[in-house]
Amino acid sequence: MSSLTIKNLRKSYGKVEVLKDINLEAKSGEFIALVGPSGCGKSTLLSMIAGLESITSGEIWIEDRLVNDEAPKDRDIAMVFQSYALYPTMTVRENMAFGMQSRKIPKAEQIEAIDRVSSLLQIEPLLQRKPSQLSGGQRQRVAMGRALVRDPKLFLFDEPLSNLDAKLRIEMRSEIKKLHQRVGKTTVYVTHDQVEAMTLASRIAVMHNGVLQQYDTPKEIYERPVNRFVAGFMGSPTMNFLEAKIAESADGPGVVIDGGDGSVLALPKGKFNSLKPGQSVIFGVRPEHFSPVHATRVEIYGSTPVTVKVLVDMVEPTGSETILMTVLAGQKMIVSCEPDDAPVEGGTMEFAINMSKVCLFDVASELRL
Ligand SMILES: Nc1ncnc2c1ncn2[C@@H]1O[C@H](COP(=O)(O)OP(=O)(O)OP(=O)(O)O)[C@@H](O)[C@H]1O
Ligand SMILES: [Mg+2]
Repeated sequence: MSSLTIKNLRKSYGKVEVLKDINLEAKSGEFIALVGPSGCGKSTLLSMIAGLESITSGEIWIEDRLVNDEAPKDRDIAMVFQSYALYPTMTVRENMAFGMQSRKIPKAEQIEAIDRVSSLLQIEPLLQRKPSQLSGGQRQRVAMGRALVRDPKLFLFDEPLSNLDAKLRIEMRSEIKKLHQRVGKTTVYVTHDQVEAMTLASRIAVMHNGVLQQYDTPKEIYERPVNRFVAGFMGSPTMNFLEAKIAESADGPGVVIDGGDGSVLALPKGKFNSLKPGQSVIFGVRPEHFSPVHATRVEIYGSTPVTVKVLVDMVEPTGSETILMTVLAGQKMIVSCEPDDAPVEGGTMEFAINMSKVCLFDVASELRL
């Protein structure tokens, strides 16, 4: 039995439809990440699951209960809001105890839960303070604490780490992962951060303009995005999209980048059978799938690596990798490389492309071919 099932769910505000026919299910114990650009409907969907927003049409099931008409308090859900929503007149401790009190959890159990969670979230020194005496990141941790002391059927998180600094965010990410592995509660987790989605989720739902684009494992979403939107949204720096055409070469079908020298980049055999010579395509290649020809990594790209010469416009070291803003055949392209391999700005450099990882998209539908 699925823990959460969403069927043909729609939401309109007046004439504006913000969620369009969403179908989604989470198995018991699954960790679902909901990602998508600002305004695509993530918070609206979460609020509908929690019962805080009305349903225009469709069904929401929690286990075997249709909850469309159930009040939020009866749905047995713990939610962390994007806007924290702490009770301003209560201390941190009272905020955390509130949900347990209204559920008549014994006092000793409440104290034990608050101790455990506040140590996990490093908020023990703040327990006597009021929300107005906390920083944004501290409030966010308290809001999380208030959810984590509960034992609900479903956890809903709306960007719970967005106000934390980078270091705490990574620490909290690991804590959430450990916690989920330990208690195994079904979780729906909204985030802007793709790394968070990739590292935490068993499945990722990518949304755009109120439409669910793809719902799959992190690996599938990253390696086999259904369309150009998903490909471009997941991954940082983003996938490169170059205008190109299909061509035949001695090595079989390949792509020729528009505006370039006409050389054919051979495609892996048997992977793109339905393509026709002359057909326009979008050639998608991720920044990490390049390797300088002198580097040893090229060997894994096959015995006759496919190479391109690019103009290096700008070099941006990030520490662990260096990002190159380059130009290939007049089209912009981002390449990431090892800091030691980074060239100087203004020069040209030859890279091998890992063609086994590239994606092709239809120009009109933008679907992956
Ligand atoms: N009460 C409302 N009345 C009218 N439109 C609304 C209302 N609440 C949300 N919307 C609209 O619905 C759309 C989806 O909003 P939602 O808050 O779900 O987006 P989101 O994906 O959570 O974005 P963000 O990442 O910025 O939090 C937006 O276009 C928003 O303007
Ligand atoms: Mg939101």
